[in-house]
Amino acid sequence: MTRVAVFPGSFDPMTNAHLDVARRAAALFDRLVIGVLNNTKKSPLFSVDERIAQISLSVADFGPHVEVVGFDGLTVDFAAHRGAAFIVRGLRAVSDFEAELQMAHTNRKLQPAVDTVFLMSALEFGYLSSSLAKEVAQFGGEVGGMVPAAVAAALRARFAPPG
Ligand code: PNS
Repeated sequence: MTRVAVFPGSFDPMTNAHLDVARRAAALFDRLVIGVLNNTKKSPLFSVDERIAQISLSVADFGPHVEVVGFDGLTVDFAAHRGAAFIVRGLRAVSDFEAELQMAHTNRKLQPAVDTVFLMSALEFGYLSSSLAKEVAQFGGEVGGMVPAAVAAALRARFAPPG
């Protein structure tokens, strides 16, 4: 039996907490499809294509069974389209739990055949968020330890002083 999982998220941008979850999920599943949500409600810093490129570089050594794609609509439809029976989500701290529980139950109501699997983010990345990484970069702080190298480079370029 081939175990396929999707790992959906905004990833605007991917942090080292996301990367850690992706690495461990890649070791658990036969195929892992990282899905970048094209969220029309948010105005992201990076386009979906930019995020896909950054994440693809970051997970390049995880193996050929890991794919990065964009998606819109419901995560359960994305999972069905990809033949995935699992949704992977990371939990950094207890504060993530409530929203994740609500999402997991909603997804299960929509599609009972798809289960959500939670991985605890590595302790050292528990404080990280995409918004904080963006804020640090925006004000010239060092984001090297917070995000994958490809993302750090993209953040530096995006917030480089003009000229
Ligand atoms: O990285 P994020 O922003 O925490 O990811 C949230 C995401 C993309 C997993 C969630 O917003 C989502 O699944 N959106 C797709 C729409 C959907 O399926 N909604 C119903 C389930 S909550």
